[in-house]
Parts: sequence; structure tokens; C-alpha cells
Amino acid sequence: MTESTSRGKFITFEGIDGAGKTTQAEMLVVALREKQELPISFVREPGGDPISESIRKLLLHSEEIMSDRAEALLMIASRAQLTDKVILPYLMDGRWVVADRYADSTLAYQGGGRGLSSTALKEINYFGTYTLKPDLTFFLDISVEEANNRMSVSRDRIEKEGDEFQERVRDFYTNLHTEEPERVILIDGKKSIDAIHNEIWSIVNEKLMP
Ligand code: ADP
Ligand code: TYD
Repeated sequence: MTESTSRGKFITFEGIDGAGKTTQAEMLVVALREKQELPISFVREPGGDPISESIRKLLLHSEEIMSDRAEALLMIASRAQLTDKVILPYLMDGRWVVADRYADSTLAYQGGGRGLSSTALKEINYFGTYTLKPDLTFFLDISVEEANNRMSVSRDRIEKEGDEFQERVRDFYTNLHTEEPERVILIDGKKSIDAIHNEIWSIVNEKLMP
């Protein structure tokens, strides 16, 4: 590993299923790779490391009924592994990391969606993230109806939860943006893919580039 004097930046994408996170995260990675000298890393949650990917299979495709708390703890276990083994070493090396979902997803889905205690989830997240917080988070906001139109017919266990669940998740993200407007940037996900990318690119340049 090469030594670096400054920590890399950590950018996350959040929103309900089908909001356009993967599309935009991948476009940002391409744009950053063209601009930055150091490699840019891209991870997804739950997953992004062999152990975390095994936990992902359990979480999204388990046929057994999973308790809400077991679901929350597995999400955070997957995050702890990814943070310790992948994200933190990269950031310490001066690389930038772009993540398709991170700790806010647990607050929104297991807190907003399932109704688990926000205070408890924040504490466990604090432990599971090794206290890491994103420098910048893009919340891509679209209606549940629009998301349903965009999503494929094959849905994982959590995507099958239904419209009311997704509405609660969306409301939670909206509140998060109100609480932390400097970090959690609300982006209108209905705009065209290129228009959203240009908006995100100009915010990244304005807030994170020297
Ligand atoms: P997510 O990662 O949030 O689930 P994706 O990036 O996988 O969302 O996008 C879901 C679907 O919607 C894909 O088919 C993608 O091509 C499409 N899509 C993404 N962004 C837009 C957009 N701004 N307008 C229309 N369709 C979009
Ligand atoms: P993901 O692969 O991002 O699905 P999509 O690309 O369709 O948005 O995430 C899988 C599912 O896991 C998604 O429904 C959101 C859910 N999830 C949680 O419930 N809590 C979490 O902490 C995370 C990271 C994801």
C-alpha cells in the first residue's frame, strides 16, 4: 500500500429501490476515474466483500421468515466487514470510495420501514461503521409509483414488501435530508439520467474538490 497524507473522500447513494442509485453511482465512478489520479473504488451494500456477499444472500434470498432485529444486525454485520476490510483501507490510502447504499439504508429500511428504534439502530451503526460517516450522500428521490414502473419483475425479499413500506422508507430519507442538509443532498430522481449526473458532478466538484 502506498502512503498518503490525506484520507480519500467517501460518497454514498441512497433512495428507495429503483430510484436510480446504481445508474448514478456508476456514472460518478467513471467521471471520477477520468479526473482523479488515484483509483476510485465502487462498493455496494449489502455486499462488496466475500463475507458480506454471503450475508447478502442470506438477507435477500432466505426462504425462512427473518426477524426484523436479525435483519438489522445482519445488515450492520455486512457493513462492519466491508468497512474494516475494504472501505477504510482504501480511504486511508487516499483513494475515494463510492458506495451504492450505506448506513442510512439501515435507518431508512429497518427504522423507517420496519419500525425498529432509530436510537438503537444509530448506536449499532456507530459500532458497525467504526464511526465512519460519508462526506457526501446523494438521496435520489422518486415516487413509489415511478419506482414500481422502473423495477424489474424479479424482486428480492425486501423489494417485495409493498408500497406502504417503500413510502415509509422514502419519508425517512426525506427527514434525514431535513436533519442533515449539508451532507444528505436531495436530488429529483425524475429528471433524465444525464441531467441528474450533471447535477451530481457539479455538487461533487463544488463540495469535495480542492
Ligand atoms: P436502483 O439502484 O436505485 O435500484 P437503478 O439505477 O438500478 O436503480 O435503476 C432502475 C431502473 O431505472 C433501470 O432500468 C435504470 O436504467 C432506470 N433509470 C435509472 N435512472 C433513471 C432516470 N433518471 N430516468 C429513467 N429511468 C431511469
Ligand atoms: P440493493 O441491492 O441496493 O437493491 P436496489 O439496487 O434494487 O436498490 O439493496 C437490496 C435491498 O436491501 C434493498 O431492498 C434495500 C435493502 N437494504 C436494507 O433493508 N437495509 C440496509 O441497511 C441495506 C444496505 C439495504
